[in-house]
Amino acid sequence: MRKHITIFDTTLRDGEQSPGASLQKSEKLEIAQQLARLKVDAIEAGFPIASPDDLEAVKLISKKVKGPIICGLARSLKADIDAAYKAVKSSSRPRIHVFLATSKIHMKYKLKKAEDEILRQAGWAVKYAKKYVDDVEFSPEDASRTQPNFLYKVLEHVIAAGATTVNIPDTVGYAIPDEFGRLIYNITRRVPNINKAVISVHCHNDLGLAVANSLAAVVNGAGQVECTINGIGERAGNASLEEIIMGMKTRSDFFNKKTSIRNQFLYETSRMVTRLTGIAVQPNKAVVGSNAFAHEAGIHQDGILKQRSTYEIMRPQDVGFGETKLVMGKHSGRHALQARLKKLGYILKDDELDRAFARFKRLADKKKSIYDEDLSTIVEDEMIAIPETYRLIYLSIESSTESTPKATVRLKMKKKETEASATGDGPVDACYKAVDKITGLRGKLTAYGIRSITSGKDALGEASLKVDVKGKIVSGRGTSTDVIEASVKAYLNAMNKICSSSASRTKQCL
Ligand code: KIV
Ligand code: ZN
Repeated sequence: MRKHITIFDTTLRDGEQSPGASLQKSEKLEIAQQLARLKVDAIEAGFPIASPDDLEAVKLISKKVKGPIICGLARSLKADIDAAYKAVKSSSRPRIHVFLATSKIHMKYKLKKAEDEILRQAGWAVKYAKKYVDDVEFSPEDASRTQPNFLYKVLEHVIAAGATTVNIPDTVGYAIPDEFGRLIYNITRRVPNINKAVISVHCHNDLGLAVANSLAAVVNGAGQVECTINGIGERAGNASLEEIIMGMKTRSDFFNKKTSIRNQFLYETSRMVTRLTGIAVQPNKAVVGSNAFAHEAGIHQDGILKQRSTYEIMRPQDVGFGETKLVMGKHSGRHALQARLKKLGYILKDDELDRAFARFKRLADKKKSIYDEDLSTIVEDEMIAIPETYRLIYLSIESSTESTPKATVRLKMKKKETEASATGDGPVDACYKAVDKITGLRGKLTAYGIRSITSGKDALGEASLKVDVKGKIVSGRGTSTDVIEASVKAYLNAMNKICSSSASRTKQCL
């Protein structure tokens, strides 16, 4: 059995299929670059036939991201495979991933095809993809509900056609660990040419078993695991990368497997995916949730103080969580900030550092204690190169239990400042209406959330949202010690994204 487990990240493909997650090309590139830093073995960068935007994003990632295999998904159809090749061809390690459903239920109702037709189409698709690239992965969709003898036959056929990886998806999250592990074991025994391909698994989390099923598969002979950061994905999501990695690492006595992942980057990767998709991580989420290393109970705190291992099986530093430390204040200088940021893994160019320092000073005026999380937020904000078409200059709210909230907002666009007032259902609604009056861009809020990033009464609040502007959905994020200001900044961030994407530039952005 292979000792090295290949980590195939599908955050940008299956993860992007999460309800509410829609990423822009530049955001996908940012995540792909971070995945390369994390050292995943393969990045499934998208489904190129799905839209021209998807194709362009996969193309960009193939060109710019060095190290991992870059993979494009395709149905077992000529146009899909052509598009996937077009998208991945400039990668130095291109892979095409073709899939075709093999379960009775999918063949009968979705594809309306018999077993022999499926067998033929799967073999043809692999051979066709093989004309373009050596590295071809095949997935019999809904494999866990496929009749096992037919599944073995399909796998043998696609391996004979040239598939180098055969992926076993638990498409609807139906499998149970014991049973799924046995299926993988049986594949190693019943598919005669299985030694010519790597067995991969791809588990969905409908019953909350995606990670357990993936790990059961590893024990039984799987050499590749498909997963996503924070476990995001279709419906209840996919197996979470960070849980799989820390499961295998923490219990290496049991698994005896290796991966190339640099686990100290897990937390920052999780934060980045949260920031860019707008999908928050639940506080009690294993490995990267904000409470994953928090101890509340007195007995636990006492134990931790005496010996960490009494109640902690992983060290926060192992996933890059770091312990929250009070590090900086309003008297700290530019050099101190630079040194602290370096420790946190951020190496900034001079102009980025200038902007981060100015923002740090403004925050230090409002907030006595600056934590590592505050610094990360500042840097992430300042390093996102979204041109600020509109900048918030002034904000005032009149609100009481007896009156309709009224907001006055002043924005700067180029050198001109414009002010507008509006009333709304709440202070945030009033602010957004006032912003809309100035920009002329009517945004419809489709998701909105607010969370505190640090603790204490003067905590930094982070607003994240999704806005629909004429059918284009963009995410926005803003931070401030004042949650209304954070909400307005998040809204402007989304509007500035609309303005910066040339396809949707309107006269209001020019
Ligand atoms: O869940 C699934 O079956 C998939 C395939 C395309 C691999 O995402
Ligand atoms: Zn899937």
